[in-house]
Amino acid sequence: PLVTTGELVTRAAAARCAVAAFNVITLEHVEAVIAGAESVSSPVVLQVSENAVKFRYGRLLPLARAAVAAAERAAVPVALHLDHIQSDDLLRQAPDAGFSSVMYDAARLPYADNLAATKAAADWAHAQGLWIEAELGRLGGKNGEPPLDAHAPGARTDPAEAHAFVTDSGVDALAVAVGSSHAMTTRTATLDHDLLKRLAATLDVPLVLHGSSGVPDDELTAAVAGGIAKVNVGTALNIAMTGAIREFLAAHPEAVDSRKYLSVGREAMARAVADIIGVLRAP
Ligand code: G3H
Ligand code: ZN
Repeated sequence: PLVTTGELVTRAAAARCAVAAFNVITLEHVEAVIAGAESVSSPVVLQVSENAVKFRYGRLLPLARAAVAAAERAAVPVALHLDHIQSDDLLRQAPDAGFSSVMYDAARLPYADNLAATKAAADWAHAQGLWIEAELGRLGGKNGEPPLDAHAPGARTDPAEAHAFVTDSGVDALAVAVGSSHAMTTRTATLDHDLLKRLAATLDVPLVLHGSSGVPDDELTAAVAGGIAKVNVGTALNIAMTGAIREFLAAHPEAVDSRKYLSVGREAMARAVADIIGVLRAP
């Protein structure tokens, strides 16, 4: 069934585990995430990023309608989340398209501008009954930009600043920069667990880890123990899908039916989903 992101994150935080949120681009991604979550009987968040909407000729509704239909028929609770939204127009489409939550991304702006834009988005979202996540600190790696140096002073989320930001903006969750970076194709990120503990102790909203594809299993387990309640994964699904399709096409150069390789890609994504959920649930 279709449920809300807020209830999944709240429940995960109370149980000291994390809900996995997977970025979906195609219908095969949607089906794979749900199949993977069903295989381990776990709730899951499907998220559609502004970049994915751009890829879909700028249209949210075709993929959103498919995701809603798939979620309603799923054997596990599934929530829909709009991810990394910079466009106010897209933000305003969220409720009618079936999304219960948004991540409003103004982290590229200077602090005061990030706060003002995020507060305006949070006020509007709350009036619509939406749950809203925002980001403070810089992860890098979005839109092809290089990952930020993990030790660059401006890159990390400062606990005192984060406390003021959450209080003044009214957001329901905060994405923190603690050493992960978007679009990593190797799982080599090292997280600053001391900073994460200080953030968790300072803030009374759930914390979100972005760029989780580059974070090894043991680091993910420690991050959840340290207070991360939502784990965003995108690139890992594309690695699984593309690798499986590349291998299939190399072994079957005569193949032309797209169902043959899309099903192989979809199965590989479903396995990746089940694996990651398993890590987040581990005690
Ligand atoms: O918001 C989406 C996530 O941060 C995905 O990051 O593609 O590096 O796993 P990733
Ligand atoms: Zn992200």
